[in-house]
Amino acid sequence: MNIAVIGTGYVGLVTGTCFAETGINVTCVDIDKKKVEMLRNGKVPIYEPGLDALLERNIDKGRISFTTSLQKAIQGCDAVFIAVGTPPDEDGSADLKYVLGVAGEIGQHMEDYKVIITKSTVPVGTSYKVKSAVEKELVKRGVRIPFDVASNPEFLKEGSAVDDFLKPDRIVVGIESKRAEKVMKRLYKPFLMNGHPLLFMDIFSSEMTKYAANSMLATKISFMNDIANLCELVGANVDLVRKGIGSDTRIGNKFIYPGTGYGGSCFPKDVQALVRTADEYGHSLEVLKAVEAVNYRQKTTLVEKIKKHFGENLKGKQFGLWGLAFKPKTDDMREAPSLVIIKELKALGASIRAYDPVAMEEAERILGKSIDYAKDEYDACIDADALIVVTEWSEFRMPNFRILEKLMNERSIFDGRNIYDREEMEDNGFNYYSIGREPITIKVAVEA
Ligand SMILES: NC(=O)c1ccc[n+]([C@@H]2O[C@H](COP(=O)([O-])OP(=O)(O)OC[C@H]3O[C@@H](n4cnc5c(N)ncnc54)[C@H](O)[C@@H]3O)[C@@H](O)[C@H]2O)c1
Repeated sequence: MNIAVIGTGYVGLVTGTCFAETGINVTCVDIDKKKVEMLRNGKVPIYEPGLDALLERNIDKGRISFTTSLQKAIQGCDAVFIAVGTPPDEDGSADLKYVLGVAGEIGQHMEDYKVIITKSTVPVGTSYKVKSAVEKELVKRGVRIPFDVASNPEFLKEGSAVDDFLKPDRIVVGIESKRAEKVMKRLYKPFLMNGHPLLFMDIFSSEMTKYAANSMLATKISFMNDIANLCELVGANVDLVRKGIGSDTRIGNKFIYPGTGYGGSCFPKDVQALVRTADEYGHSLEVLKAVEAVNYRQKTTLVEKIKKHFGENLKGKQFGLWGLAFKPKTDDMREAPSLVIIKELKALGASIRAYDPVAMEEAERILGKSIDYAKDEYDACIDADALIVVTEWSEFRMPNFRILEKLMNERSIFDGRNIYDREEMEDNGFNYYSIGREPITIKVAVEA
């Protein structure tokens, strides 16, 4: 089979490479010439564990190639995947200009039947807009070429994207014809050997499934963050509460870790987009509005704790910051809590020296010279008045506290991911702040 994948970002590149791994011939397209050049040389422009080796192998086997020409890429293809970005518009709705632009281009150049698959996360009904955009161009050309549209939302997680794609929990496909179903079944057959389900449904339901999934996950996070904040007030320990509820199989133990709020390229924009879709239909998604509000507040939780400790004026204060990416094992900083924390602390006059194992280049691209960049985690803490842990990279879990103690001005740690143990921190002589685990003096009223 031959396929084209349009867009070589986190989703498109993983999709193309993983399909190539099954023996399919894949042509990947991107408008970014620099990216295409890098990829042709076997260099992966993003950090994604395992992707470089997989890409190299498939380039060597001649199963994957890269081009800036969509026209060339789609000739002779059975299927074309659209995997370009859908960033939020000014009002929070998904901006479809890239998706529909690509659809129009496909219509301008296609010569034979293909299934045109929307893999980008798009609002309900978009695949039909894709269909119209293609049809419009075919009419302009005065040709009648049959094609089908399909929706195939992607559920991979950055940081484990290759594994998620190769061993998916499920594959969701929205179709409207048997012919498209047949093509999709053939394409995904190699990924279903271990019993993972391929769920066919109508296109509206498929598009909705993606937003519902991300919104549910964001809801779990915001719920837990809100509970963590209450734990602090009443003197409960959210770690114990988390274990207490997570062992209930109806709740499950995933996505209930409190922290500094969710970020990344998906949850913030997808929750917003679903809220806007509902608004358009005159329905107010109250739960998701609250999820967004809680998340917005949560991103400044550590700053509030820092202000409580040091006061409102942070002029002359120096902070070491560990973790810039929105989560471990990625260099993606879109909507990362670190950006909000840095902005707020800078506004109060603080200086920041940050370190992230893989996101330093991306951080420098976004933040420029507004902060200092450390060469490792210890370097970030030289003369620091406090250490702020924002992303829970494994290598931050067991630092040498004796070294930190010597490097730092003052021994304070603001742990936004609850990766350290309070008792151990206190034994090490640190002022320790975390999320939902603050000790309080318990006043028990004893009735006479
Ligand atoms: N990143 C994730 O974890 C993830 C997971 C699931 C779904 N998604 C969804 O997948 C879509 C893509 O996300 P991403 O993170 O891969 O985006 P990205 O920004 O990393 O990549 C998009 C790529 O598309 C390219 N592009 C834009 N217009 C183009 C055009 N006309 N022709 C060819 N290439 C073009 C860009 O240059 C870029 O390389 C989004 O809708 C996103 O919501 C993302």
